[in-house]
Amino acid sequence: MKAVWKLALRTPNIISLANGDPHNSLYPISQIDFKVPAVNTENPCSEWKSGDGPTQTFTSYKDKDCALSLQVALQYGAGAGLLDVRKTLSGFNEMLHGCTSATHDVTLSLGNADALTKCFRLLGDPGDSFLVEEFSFPGMTNAPLAHGIKWVPVMMDEDGILPTSLESILEAWDTDTRGKRPHVLYTIPSGQNPTGGTLTLERRREIYKIACRWNLIILEDDPYYFLQYDRKPVSPPDIESEGYGKTFAKTLIPSFLSMDKDGRVIRIDSFSKIIVPGMRLGWIASNPFFAEKLESLTDSSTQHPHGFGQAFVAEMLGPKGWGPDGFMRWVGSLCDEYQRKRDFFLKIFLREVGDNGFATVGTPTAGMFVWIKVHLERHPRYAEEGPTSSNVEELMDELFNKLFDGGVLLMPAKTFACPSDNRDSTRNKLNHFRATFAGVDGTIENALVIFGKVLREFFGEHAAS
Ligand SMILES: Cc1ncc(COP(=O)(O)O)c(C=O)c1O
Repeated sequence: MKAVWKLALRTPNIISLANGDPHNSLYPISQIDFKVPAVNTENPCSEWKSGDGPTQTFTSYKDKDCALSLQVALQYGAGAGLLDVRKTLSGFNEMLHGCTSATHDVTLSLGNADALTKCFRLLGDPGDSFLVEEFSFPGMTNAPLAHGIKWVPVMMDEDGILPTSLESILEAWDTDTRGKRPHVLYTIPSGQNPTGGTLTLERRREIYKIACRWNLIILEDDPYYFLQYDRKPVSPPDIESEGYGKTFAKTLIPSFLSMDKDGRVIRIDSFSKIIVPGMRLGWIASNPFFAEKLESLTDSSTQHPHGFGQAFVAEMLGPKGWGPDGFMRWVGSLCDEYQRKRDFFLKIFLREVGDNGFATVGTPTAGMFVWIKVHLERHPRYAEEGPTSSNVEELMDELFNKLFDGGVLLMPAKTFACPSDNRDSTRNKLNHFRATFAGVDGTIENALVIFGKVLREFFGEHAAS
């Protein structure tokens, strides 16, 4: 059906009686106004938050000129998304990652969860094994299990995947006992969920080399890419000559996509963390072969993404909207706000917890999460029976319940442990909680006051020194 429909699209004068499309004269919507912050100020995010910053309105019309007519945006569309929006995002990717539409096509998605579940389905047959960080986002790692995909955990530290672990898994793989060698690496390279870690450039390069050596496809799930902290300041002369967007992009850590010479990276971006999650819109960059398969899968599953979202994005990045430069100004200002929240979290953590040594946190340079390490080895009832067996899980369950009773909910590490056949490698590393600093200051402070108190009670005076 979609092939016939595309034929009609390529033939402008054809009279089509083929589709059950509601005619746009019957759409009960003729205009949508999106009131947004103006981004030509020093700090649009904090001014907007305070409620008295300048604003701007993007307008989508059904019957008047605008970046994307509602006649088109609200009609049934192509699974890959509307061409204008895809072209805009392709240009945006070129600015950010240097990849061009000649090598990588852009396909729209309903956010990264949608994009990933489709990629898992496309890339894996039942019985295949995929590689993943040993702690990862369970919403995604649970997704392909029903399809018969097995996960193989790759060891990580505070900077993410250890290339040596990746290489040794692939080298030691015994196809007789374990079946086909993994051909997919699913990774969250920036502000990793749950650990908050960001792969260094050096590690990215090493991992990409390993991927070339072992012919891996890299699924780069990067919803926190735009939220990077402690970056080099943007340089005014560069802004003058290259524009804000390009100058800002140079302060972000290079993506796997930017290194991709042979079409093995599928990069998955989302508007969820930088505009709104409810818009359900993201974009995928992949080689044209994968893009075509993704489109077919979308045509026979979710159908094309949200029309209102596409209308918004077209106006936002279009000539009367923020444009790519203005969008990056918003992102830059959002980074400042999240960096401030991160620093607030760490300051209060230090005040409430830091001096007792029962728990510590690193300083994430991207994303929304800190990975709180609980030093259970100092607990009087801690018992380690070997590298893979201890009472860490029991003690963490106990602490989780005490925190919950005290009024604070933190995500226990066991929620994120890779759902592989063999959980031994992560068992002794379950002494972590994921916490977010994305909330408001008052909530963060109240939670950490309780956390510090419950932690002290949990360890008691008997803590081993
Ligand atoms: C690592 C990771 N991937 C994917 C998603 C889903 O994102 P989206 O809202 O774009 O579907 C999330 C959301 O929290 C996430 O943290």
